[in-house]
Amino acid sequence: MEKTTTPKTNMVFAREVKEGLSAFPKHLSSKYFYDEIGDKLFQQIMALPEYYLTRAEYTIFEQHKSEITASFSTPNVPFNLYELGAGDGTKTKLLLKELLKQKYQFEYRPIDISANALAQLSTSLTNELPNVSVRPIQGTYFDSLKEMGQTQEKKKVILFLGSNIGNLNHKLAVEFLMNIAHILNKDDLFFMGMDQKKHPRTILNAYSDPSGITAAFNKNVLTRINNELGGNFNLDNFIHWESYNPETGTAKSYLVSKIAQEVTIDILEQSFEFDAWETIHTEISQKYDDAMVYQMAEDAGLRVVNQFKDANSTFKNYLFTIA
Ligand SMILES: C[S@@+](CC[C@H](N)C(=O)[O-])C[C@H]1O[C@@H](n2cnc3c(N)ncnc32)[C@H](O)[C@@H]1O
Repeated sequence: MEKTTTPKTNMVFAREVKEGLSAFPKHLSSKYFYDEIGDKLFQQIMALPEYYLTRAEYTIFEQHKSEITASFSTPNVPFNLYELGAGDGTKTKLLLKELLKQKYQFEYRPIDISANALAQLSTSLTNELPNVSVRPIQGTYFDSLKEMGQTQEKKKVILFLGSNIGNLNHKLAVEFLMNIAHILNKDDLFFMGMDQKKHPRTILNAYSDPSGITAAFNKNVLTRINNELGGNFNLDNFIHWESYNPETGTAKSYLVSKIAQEVTIDILEQSFEFDAWETIHTEISQKYDDAMVYQMAEDAGLRVVNQFKDANSTFKNYLFTIA
């Protein structure tokens, strides 16, 4: 498995935890949810009745797979199919199967921060789709985009599914899209899944299931700090809390300290104070409408050339080129 040339992952994790827990209000990045345990919890989330996103995007691919893959390339033009934040690739496999069926020449290059997710994805692809050529890359979105920009190669199609873009705040999302625009050549394409604004209750329920799986997923960042950085967080002293603002379309996840407490992190040789009911902001899940998407594309130097949706417009996949 290739790795992007980044500073040592644990050092970056430690530095970002120190910054986030020293800030006011406190924050931690959702990219640290994902390790072996986090990946499993996310798979359980995708199967929850409340988590409509995965099923909606899966339906779009089932219904439109031939049109989607036909818009990527033609069988005689070889291309690299990159996927940022590939996860378990359940939905992508529908597209990979269709590309194989139509005899497209492509190499699949899944990118993920989680080495575990990539290893499992590679194994499952070897078993289920042995004819797909797979070359995974471990790293963050931004680092891998930087490296992609430095290599001149054949046509690229970049997938960014599951509304992963929504985990970036607006400024970072536009910066991310600018990076995409920067590395796309004239015939390259960017295909992105974006969850749409809908009844606020439906959105809130998707991130606050009564079975507590989302809460366990959110708390996994604390478990990782305990295991990898020598923290002594007591998970029972925090609750998972979700909010959704229908005006901005922003869902936010928090961990809320139930008591006044002090937590020590050995690697940082530092303690952090929490007041009772103080928050750590851990994740943003932005919801979109067409106006937002087209504006973001324009701001980033991209152009929407097609879009695919499910029957209720729960979720949409947009195809972009450089403007
Ligand atoms: C919400 S899951 C979605 C997975 C898949 N795209 C889907 O639609 O089912 C997000 C995935 O992106 C990866 N990820 C999260 N933040 C990342 C980052 N900053 N850089 C690279 N991968 C990231 C996680 O490890 C995880 O596998």
